[in-house]
Amino acid sequence: MDTTIGIGFLGAGTVGGTLIRRLVDDQPAISAKTGLDLRVVKVAVRDVSKQRSFTVPEGVLTADPSDVIDNPDVALVVELMGGEDPAGDLVARALAAGKPVVTANKALIAARGPELIAAAESSGVPLLYEAAVGGGIPIIRPLAETLAGEQITRVMGIVNGTTNYILSQMETGESYPEALADAQRLGYAEPDPTADVSGADAASKAAILASLAFGTWVGFDAVHHEGIDRLSPADMEAATDLGYVIKLLGIAERHGSGVNARVHPAMIPGDHPLASIRGATNAIYVEGPSVEELLFAGPGAGGEPTASAVLGDVIDAAREVLAGAQVAPRIRFSPGDIVDFGDIPTKWYVRLLVVDAPGVLARVAGAFGDAGVSIMSVRQEGRDDTASLLLITHRAAESSQRKAVEAVDALDVVHEVAAVIRVVSDEA
Ligand code: NAP
Ligand code: HSE
Repeated sequence: MDTTIGIGFLGAGTVGGTLIRRLVDDQPAISAKTGLDLRVVKVAVRDVSKQRSFTVPEGVLTADPSDVIDNPDVALVVELMGGEDPAGDLVARALAAGKPVVTANKALIAARGPELIAAAESSGVPLLYEAAVGGGIPIIRPLAETLAGEQITRVMGIVNGTTNYILSQMETGESYPEALADAQRLGYAEPDPTADVSGADAASKAAILASLAFGTWVGFDAVHHEGIDRLSPADMEAATDLGYVIKLLGIAERHGSGVNARVHPAMIPGDHPLASIRGATNAIYVEGPSVEELLFAGPGAGGEPTASAVLGDVIDAAREVLAGAQVAPRIRFSPGDIVDFGDIPTKWYVRLLVVDAPGVLARVAGAFGDAGVSIMSVRQEGRDDTASLLLITHRAAESSQRKAVEAVDALDVVHEVAAVIRVVSDEA
């Protein structure tokens, strides 16, 4: 039986370039292990004159993505361009042409997932996206297959390598711009790193995790997201002093018959397992009544680990091509309610810059109490004109916290509300 599968690439940068190099260099080993003869047939890039980290025969590189999709020798398309446009329409065209698609593009799946999954189903071909969440960590397939029968209650974790790398480097004294530049150089960041630092990349991943975990489609727009761009070194130091670490968390939870997914910085206790996850490593907790707590952890960004996950999908899709059977999506999505982010109670860390005078603490506590927010602990730092008050509250909804913060901000003894950060502790 001929086991040759022609592969066409849309994009050959950090991830695509690494995968092409592996397919060329490791071809005998991959073939010996899988029985497949995977051939790189056509590769679309923006600039064909750019120097590449891989070598392919002349004529394989093209600047026209149609040369990939319409090529009769391409049996499987790998999309590693990134972004929604033009990647989305190209993926839709490939699926409509009956070609399986493998992608690492979380932005695209989170934005157009239902439409593309339906297109794959109507052509009977796979649309695989293991590398879209967690880089080299297997998490999509476990959720969509191994855990398909589990009534998952929560998925929570660190799902963006760039921001976790930046926060880890800042803990060692490196500046934010230096750490971001390193993350870009190391191939962790998105082509536009705003997606990383704003929390949008993690929101796409949280949307995908929530959809697969709960079987209700949660699109990107339904995920509240905040990034790390407003975190200051003062809060990172304060967190350390209080025994916490600040992490950017993606959280997807079942609430009654509804679901919620969100991304925001959170203070977590220093002895929490996620607190020790550093650099570009990702870690994802999955909780359910039967499996209790599962932890998936590993390299969450970068060319090598991500290409490894894409390669796994390529091998899977190639087997489906050779089997010639109609492929159906693993998970069926049913309608469900999206629970509003503001209704979910949490503890809060609030840093205030206040006048250092008698009675200030009582007035601040009074304003919190009037808004129905109870204070769990207070620490004062600094003396003279301005002192820092570091408050941690008991659990309160966002609306109550905002009311409290507005009232405190209006007090003449408060110079500034310098930070408000969620605290995730006993919920984990
Ligand atoms: P990248 O290094 O910027 O590579 C993008 C590739 O797409 C480049 O080869 C670029 O061509 C090509 N391209 C972009 N627009 C194009 C267009 N209109 N026509 C033809 N080619 C075009 O990006 P990456 O880091 O490899 O990421 C690729 C995808 O993987 C993204 O969806 C990203 O979210 C996802 N991902 C990345 C990582 C990671 O750690 N980097 C991890 C997980 C998932 P040129 O080379 O000529 O510029
Ligand atoms: N830019 C992403 C990150 C790549 O830093 O996590 C992996 O999806």
